[in-house]
Amino acid sequence: MIYLDNAATSFPKPERVIAAISRYCREIGANPGRASHRLAREASAVVARTRRLLADLLGGIDPSRLIFTPSTTVALNLALKGLLRAGDHVLTSTMEHNSVLRPLHHLERLGITHTPIPCSPEGLLDPADIRRHLRPQTRLIALVHASNVTGGIMPVSEVGALARDLGLLFLVDAAQTAGAIPVEPDRLHTDLLAGPGHKSLLGPMGTGFLYVRPGLELDTLWEGGTGSYSESTEQPESWPDRFESGTLNAPGLAGLAEGIAEIQERGVDAIAAHKTRLMERVYQALRELPGVVLYGPADRKECVGTLSFNVAGVTGNEVAHILDTAYGIAVRPGLHCAPTAHRTIGSFPEGTVRVSIGPYTTEDETLALIKAVEQIVRFRR
Ligand SMILES: Cc1ncc(COP(=O)(O)O)c(C=O)c1O
Repeated sequence: MIYLDNAATSFPKPERVIAAISRYCREIGANPGRASHRLAREASAVVARTRRLLADLLGGIDPSRLIFTPSTTVALNLALKGLLRAGDHVLTSTMEHNSVLRPLHHLERLGITHTPIPCSPEGLLDPADIRRHLRPQTRLIALVHASNVTGGIMPVSEVGALARDLGLLFLVDAAQTAGAIPVEPDRLHTDLLAGPGHKSLLGPMGTGFLYVRPGLELDTLWEGGTGSYSESTEQPESWPDRFESGTLNAPGLAGLAEGIAEIQERGVDAIAAHKTRLMERVYQALRELPGVVLYGPADRKECVGTLSFNVAGVTGNEVAHILDTAYGIAVRPGLHCAPTAHRTIGSFPEGTVRVSIGPYTTEDETLALIKAVEQIVRFRR
């Protein structure tokens, strides 16, 4: 099988990730931070190492401000619901994933409003549009770093600088960028940044994180045992314990550490360059095919390793089904949990066929995709 669905979750995971999870389950097993015996100490050391590695990858941020979560979605919910109060207004974009749009929709019942700023048909936000949508109550800008539909990278650094000048908080959804391109929240002027462990960081499912810049306070969304300050029934003040009540996914975090180490060894820039090279080829080849419509920025250097296309006269579901059953190629058709993004690029309600590559995708695999789409187009005609 040729797996081109890395935007959903990366596959395959490196052997060292699998080995670390297995080692944790076989040899450590204990609950981190919950006792002082040797195995519990080792468990805590595993979690601390993962936090340190991730903090380094994110540009040397303070590890205590990294909260581990089960997914980006949980991290985004914690950021939005822990921060926003009745009367607040949020600026966001029409390219967001439902993991931002649905919490914002839900928060409307608490008197928190939001405005999705329209993006271009390519799916990019013009930072100049932000000022036009400002309100006196605007408190936060929430923006996706790269679209999970087109792969297009947003002008996050510019928006961050503008947010700082305007005195607004800035939340970035780095689901498609953490581990895929350099992501340094402090350089991007980001107050909060949410991401997955299971996509480009090459960790297992059930891992994610929220970074909150030092000095910014956040309410907890759940409270409970942290293994620390057990004499008190009050939630501890110390970070990250305050936000990590309950047993962590320690085996998953053991695997995530190895995913991050793998990325550091290969180099994020080298991985990004590899994906750009392959996707430029795919984009150019598909563009030549009659009846193929491509979405998103034509300059693949402005994108992560994800692109969307459609074939005239064949539904996305059919294309994906043929690729799967006749060619052994896994892609994802439909709306990709981002309905307003598809409205923006003009592919709603049918959606698109999304191809997303990973660091281990080979040129032969992308050539097989190009050939398969060529044959689908020829057969259709
Ligand atoms: C842009 C974007 N945001 C958020 C998410 C949610 O991520 P998770 O599956 O880690 O909750 C995704 C998942 O694909 C995504 O692409």
